[in-house]
Amino acid sequence: MRTLPVILDVDTGVDDALALLFAATHPAIDVRAVTCVAGNAPLEQVVDNTLRILDAANAPAIPVAAGAVRPLLAAPRVASHVHGADGLGGLTLPPTSRQAADVSAVELMRRTLIDSAEPVTLVALAPQTNLALLVRTHPEVLEKIERIVFMGGSASVGNATAVAEFNVWHDPEAAAIVLGAGVPVFMYGLDVFNQVTVDAAIAETLAVGDSPLGRVVGALLGNRVALSEDRSLVYTGLIGDAGAVCALVAPDALVVERRPVRVELAGYGRGQTVVDRRRYSGEDAIHGGVGDWTVIDVAVDVDAPRFAALFLETLGLSG
Ligand code: BDR
Ligand code: CA
Repeated sequence: MRTLPVILDVDTGVDDALALLFAATHPAIDVRAVTCVAGNAPLEQVVDNTLRILDAANAPAIPVAAGAVRPLLAAPRVASHVHGADGLGGLTLPPTSRQAADVSAVELMRRTLIDSAEPVTLVALAPQTNLALLVRTHPEVLEKIERIVFMGGSASVGNATAVAEFNVWHDPEAAAIVLGAGVPVFMYGLDVFNQVTVDAAIAETLAVGDSPLGRVVGALLGNRVALSEDRSLVYTGLIGDAGAVCALVAPDALVVERRPVRVELAGYGRGQTVVDRRRYSGEDAIHGGVGDWTVIDVAVDVDAPRFAALFLETLGLSG
């Protein structure tokens, strides 16, 4: 398999951490840069978490840069109910010796794209604020983007609200800008994100095992929780954002449909990705409500055990 140059945009985040570990370890993925954005935690915390996780991955010196401190228009939000106050669910990692680059996330993305001999895949695992700023500031680099793979959205259920997924809900204007950028887009939404899990027993075994990396992964998986109706936390075991990175190297494990998608910007539906899955969609024109749609690739189903196995095997943790 050829080595794929990627830039990861993250809001680390328990499952962003799992994704970084996987991406930095997989031999077919060449992580050229990591850019950070506020989302699961405030920006400063996201940057620190990202640097510490790259240390834990023993990754070569991948440049990391800080980006947007808040969404384009929306108020800043928090996700501490799911990711903990520190974004990593309280996982204690040694302080990092690395430093973030002295350029912004947008500038690091621009330079990485311009300097690359071949087109680069942008993988967004977070609110798309940094990507939207890149699109608006440096449209000249769009031709160097192979495609944008984003974790976000849904063709069915939401999580931040009944219909909206967190990353898109956090900055819907940014997601709409990115969808309209004219670059090929692949959506790894909740339809597939919610399927790929690791059993609690495996996570517990890893968390107390001999492998330092296994202990980090086990602790992170142990922190994969969701808030139930009575506000108690339940274990989900979701590898989450890491699944979107698995999609880069095992695309045949996914069922993908090419569909028109739009981002809702108002009302209770704000942040929802409406995915038109109708067989015949001609009635829209008759009813007069058309709006801006972009045709993109949407992952609608996944061989979840295969992604979970790929994740653990790549990290050398399949027991
Ligand atoms: C997304 O939001 C965050 O909680 C996760 O890191 C993931 O990127 C899921 O909705
Ligand atoms: Ca994330």
